[in-house]
Amino acid sequence: MAKISDLSAHPMKKVRVSGRDIALVHVGEQYYAFDNTCTHKGGPLAKGELSGETVTCPWHGGMFDVRTGDLLHPPPVERLRTYPVRITGEDIEIEFTD
Ligand code: FES
Repeated sequence: MAKISDLSAHPMKKVRVSGRDIALVHVGEQYYAFDNTCTHKGGPLAKGELSGETVTCPWHGGMFDVRTGDLLHPPPVERLRTYPVRITGEDIEIEFTD
């Protein structure tokens, strides 16, 4: 779990939740969560660039839509896994379905 204030200084942050590395982003009024590990060769996405709803992997420039996980630009060939986010007060909760 993370706090809204965790994303106030920088809109993208890696958090460790239930043994998984998750990237959390704040875009407009929304929060999104997705695997921090790029589906190409494992680049740390939270260390990449966030531009609007697009995250760019710092290793080879692969791009994903943070809202859906859709692949926007190779070299990755697989989409990112995303997770539902729930805001409760100051808390950002990530919902895992498995
Ligand atoms: S590891 Fe992300 S584009 Fe290669």
